[in-house]
Amino acid sequence: MGKSIESHLHEDRVFQPPKEFSRKARISSMAQYRRMYKESIAKPASFWGREAKELAWQKPWKKVLDWSAPYAKWFVGGKLNVTESCLDQHLDGPRRNKAAIIWEGEPGETRVLTYQQLHREVCRFANVLEANEVKSRDRVLIYMPMIPEAAIAMLACARIGAVHSVVFGGFSAESIVDRLEDSGATTVLTADGGYRRGKVVPLKANVDAALKSHKGVKRVVVYQRTGAKVTMKRGRDLWWHEELEKVSASHQARAFDSEHPLFILYTSGSTGKPKGILHSSGGYLLGAYTTCKYIFDMRDEDVYWCTADVGWVTGHTYIVYGPLANGVTQVMYEGAPNFPDFGRFWSIVEKYGVTIFYTAPTAIRAFIKAGDKFPASHDLSSLRLLGTVGEPINPEAWMWYHEKIGGGRCPIVDTWWQTETGAIMISPLPGCTPTKPGTATLPFFGVDAAILDENGKECKADEGGKLVIRKPWPSMLRTIYGDARRYKKVYWSDYVGRYTAGDGARRDRDGNFWIVGRLDDVLNVSGHRLGTAEVESALVAHKAVAEAAVVGRPHEIKGQGVVAFVTLREGVKTSGRIEEELRNHVGKVIGAIAKPDEIHLTPALPKTRSGKIMRRLLKELVATGKITGNITTLEDFGVITKLQKEMKK
Ligand code: WTA
Repeated sequence: MGKSIESHLHEDRVFQPPKEFSRKARISSMAQYRRMYKESIAKPASFWGREAKELAWQKPWKKVLDWSAPYAKWFVGGKLNVTESCLDQHLDGPRRNKAAIIWEGEPGETRVLTYQQLHREVCRFANVLEANEVKSRDRVLIYMPMIPEAAIAMLACARIGAVHSVVFGGFSAESIVDRLEDSGATTVLTADGGYRRGKVVPLKANVDAALKSHKGVKRVVVYQRTGAKVTMKRGRDLWWHEELEKVSASHQARAFDSEHPLFILYTSGSTGKPKGILHSSGGYLLGAYTTCKYIFDMRDEDVYWCTADVGWVTGHTYIVYGPLANGVTQVMYEGAPNFPDFGRFWSIVEKYGVTIFYTAPTAIRAFIKAGDKFPASHDLSSLRLLGTVGEPINPEAWMWYHEKIGGGRCPIVDTWWQTETGAIMISPLPGCTPTKPGTATLPFFGVDAAILDENGKECKADEGGKLVIRKPWPSMLRTIYGDARRYKKVYWSDYVGRYTAGDGARRDRDGNFWIVGRLDDVLNVSGHRLGTAEVESALVAHKAVAEAAVVGRPHEIKGQGVVAFVTLREGVKTSGRIEEELRNHVGKVIGAIAKPDEIHLTPALPKTRSGKIMRRLLKELVATGKITGNITTLEDFGVITKLQKEMKK
């Protein structure tokens, strides 16, 4: 294993869970954690079988796990409707009129949906989908703002066995086209717009632009959120509210196989177009449910808030399926964290009495920069537990979160997981695990995580290696949609029968996992995965560009910034603002998060004699301003001098 993934971070501060918290927590001692962990690894069938009984099944399973690497089937023979665990089962008791979603729009309005009301809306919209001939296994693309209808749309799909594929509202029309083509979705659910930083995001207009080049879509159902003017194409586009008028509010939940596909979510890989990660029903729901129960220690009296967008996996598992299956009350917020100023999140925490708060390190860093006066001017005493996800949290940010947001009294769960894992895999349990700033600590139940060297041997303490999972887990991805070969190659070919996460990590002497970052050509920008190859192909698609190479560099707020090296085509006339033009072009092709922070024009890129771009050199160059690494395989040594000069500009 190369030196590149060694970590030199040493952290001695240890924070024990507050006694008061431990006393009430579901898992209140390390002995209890170890006992349950041991059982979950040694006897997964009895452990998960017991946990799964807490979900609503229409038909019991015959076998907990059928594993034929790399394909897992969980709860074989069992049948369920995922939405019954999330909604119907709460209607027979005190949760019936409990708030399921307390939603706040960016302009400031509030809507509350009780479990009964949410159930009713999901049933109505399920009827709308069926009336529009959406059938079981059909793919439905959802491109919505952060409003309750986004969750309603997902749950309505799940209720009728259709497979939702949510596309983040910040992605562009071209990203929609890619996902429509890959998934074969013929129904699109969207809105006239959504509010973000005081402006209306033109969601419907983006869908219209996408559907100019992609022809297979039969129906677009449009929710009226902002009242912005949109064009409706006759015979294809329908108003959400008009469709609701035509249907009843009751809907019988059919039972689907435990392995029935639930959703496809696209995520970046190291090469080519995003991968459609396919998740199925019973196992995924169980992962979402148990991690919420044990890691967020969700209680009936909690007010939980996850600040993610439903367009990412965190929004799927920790806004929709997990919290609802636990019957918790949650806050959902439409807009930006800094609108109208950086006090917005803290005013929401204060206003609704949020007790559990889950956000991303990039947001925390932005808050630190904005200044302590924002959290300090709000009463945050309702909080009892904090969480982070998306990237390693730097110890300074952890300490700030602990002190300024948690008032020194709230445990922090730093949760490591991925779109592919479906649910949290490595995380403290808040009532028992001693935490250190910067480590996600220990594996969750059933997660056999290890760090291996190149020969497949387990690394020693503090030695860096590849993070793998050695046993199947209920919420694991089932495949890459339509590409089983890629599924096997990307995740299961480094070591036989073991899942490779693509992250580098080390374990300290106490067994804690420290995630160092991605090992492949994937950047982590503001907690979101972005393939360098995706940005490169967006750049090369511009008529002025001959070649492009993209690498990451450390960025104070975003974690990683995007740096592009671009060679222009000969003879192309460009305006003086070609860099800006290229940035906007990438924004148009992928979405604003992919816009390069820096673009360097260069007459040539460093290549090997066989023509491969040497990204390693470019990485070193952006990090240190010079190149000292091995360049013997370089084809043209002059390139280096030119690049070093360009970087000094
Ligand atoms: C990174 C997000 C360190 C990691 C749920 C992983 C983290 C990728 C953490 C998945 C964490 C996520 N500490 N790194 N707590 N959480 N990551 O698919 O590199 O958007 O592989 O899923 O984010 O990103 P994804």
